[in-house]
Amino acid sequence: MDSRRDHGGVIFVDLRDRSGLVQVVFSPELSPDAYRTAEQLRSEWVIQVSGTVRRRPPESENPTLPTGLVEVFADEVTVLNAALTPPFYIEDDVKADEALRLRYRYLDLRRPKMQRNLILRHQVVKYIRDFLDARGFLEIETPILIKSTPEGARDYLVPSRLQRGSFYALPQSPQQLKQLLMVSGVERYFQIARCFRDEDLRADRQPEFTQLDLEMSFVEQEDVLQLTEELYTGMVEKLTPDKKLVKPFPRIPYDDVMARYGSDKPDLRFGLEMTDVTDLAGETEFRVFLSTIEQGGIVKGFVAPGQGHYTGSDMRRLEETAREFGAAGMSHVRLQGEGSPSDLVDEHFLLSPGLRMPVEWSRRLAETMGASGGDLIVLMAGPARRVNQWLSSMRDYFGERLGLIDDDTLSFAFVTGFPLFEWDENNNRWDSSHHPFTSPADGKESKLDGDDLGGIESKAYDLICNGSELASGSIRIHRRDLQEKIFGILGYNREQVEERFGHILEAFEYGAPPHGGIAPGIDRLVTILAGAESIRDVIAFPKTQSGTDLLFGSPSPVDAAQLRDLALRIAE
Ligand code: AMO
Repeated sequence: MDSRRDHGGVIFVDLRDRSGLVQVVFSPELSPDAYRTAEQLRSEWVIQVSGTVRRRPPESENPTLPTGLVEVFADEVTVLNAALTPPFYIEDDVKADEALRLRYRYLDLRRPKMQRNLILRHQVVKYIRDFLDARGFLEIETPILIKSTPEGARDYLVPSRLQRGSFYALPQSPQQLKQLLMVSGVERYFQIARCFRDEDLRADRQPEFTQLDLEMSFVEQEDVLQLTEELYTGMVEKLTPDKKLVKPFPRIPYDDVMARYGSDKPDLRFGLEMTDVTDLAGETEFRVFLSTIEQGGIVKGFVAPGQGHYTGSDMRRLEETAREFGAAGMSHVRLQGEGSPSDLVDEHFLLSPGLRMPVEWSRRLAETMGASGGDLIVLMAGPARRVNQWLSSMRDYFGERLGLIDDDTLSFAFVTGFPLFEWDENNNRWDSSHHPFTSPADGKESKLDGDDLGGIESKAYDLICNGSELASGSIRIHRRDLQEKIFGILGYNREQVEERFGHILEAFEYGAPPHGGIAPGIDRLVTILAGAESIRDVIAFPKTQSGTDLLFGSPSPVDAAQLRDLALRIAE
């Protein structure tokens, strides 16, 4: 029961199920018994009603409700179960905080919005299964109790009782298993796969989440991208036809996406592209720019169109915002007046304090960056990696602030040609940008012996949408010698390689076909399709940012006897 309204002499009850609401009318004339019971009914009670479905009288029609033209005229009602008063109202714009809703998740899931999310998620998975089945893919389950399959996070470990002191690791993804299935001759595999990663949680991350994991033999990158694009476009057009889809999906090389947007997953629903102006910055006498360049850094920025009217205090507030994003600082040029840079005169250029340059310089800067009268140029200086991060946050901030983001648009793109390795500053070693099983790009293998490891391109690709990374994949290595060499570069010694990856290296020696694949994150996809605020809104029983399940109260301590069985002791 959703709600009850007593209209002196008639009682109206909104009865709710998964499909929505229907109005039930109780009248003492029709059935005095049913009417008396109806007087006791409360929200969330479970009832059984029989009666006649009839058209509502014209004055009580409600065209906004799918069942708004009819009502059930009740002649019998049975209370199947009463209910306590819920700790929050079961309604879409719920006010209760999320912790309370997660504690009573079974009530939270009764809200129509959550029901719609669950339904959409079901439809997404069903679409995926049908789509891949029609293209000759086999759905195959792979183990959850397995050995470390590294994707860059910590493993969840499960102690073995039968082999005390030994542990299973939960898969961070079925990566090695799907590759082994290619060696098994499966040719086309997929799985709606649960993955487990013990990592710091963010708004779009859960410690356990679901991927559409897929792999194909004898394919090139473009085969995987085309299949993925076909899957996503077909799915969006069928399940969320109101969304505007940008087709075909652009394919943007990694270097290009970083140069233009400072991020490998930019929101492409708006422009605000960046320009590197290190050369021009080098002509100034501005200490911040010069020392940055001396230390190998860059100066880069973007144009906020029509924002040249900012006052000095607006600028100070903006700099404060930049600092909140972690930026060391921000410089700017405000362009007053109107027209192209050549139309502007000296007093039209307002430069940030410290940045004292002749008008000619400002004019060239504006021309290089595509700014004109009335615009604001935002500039940041520092190490390339940091500058890109800061600017990318500022770009998102302006995208939002200038109202450039259309909520109904899905702007997908593939980012291709990621570097094979990235330098891990914390551990002072090379790490895989994607994962160790990713193949170097054609013709780049010989560079593995050189000293520019950071400059080696790989066959890894991502699918991005509206500022989120939705899927990652790559063409894999399928030769033992090459795979061993990569492990060597990543710092594993011979014994470690044998112990951790011996099984897959061996498999590569028994006729492994060339293969590649991709893994779209299902939670993130449904979040975007549903227009949900958080990934938690599309997962039936999610965990909090601290990895807790508030309904079950897990994780939780276990019995001493259980620990004894596992030969484990909790350290003080
Ligand atoms: P990757 O680690 O990039 O690749 O993951 C693929 C996709 O899974 C989703 N995802 C997550 N979603 C929610 N919570 C998380 N903690 C989380 N981590 C990842 C993202 C991401 O794009 N084995 C490779 C794929 C391959 O090479 O085929 C892999 O797992 O949407």
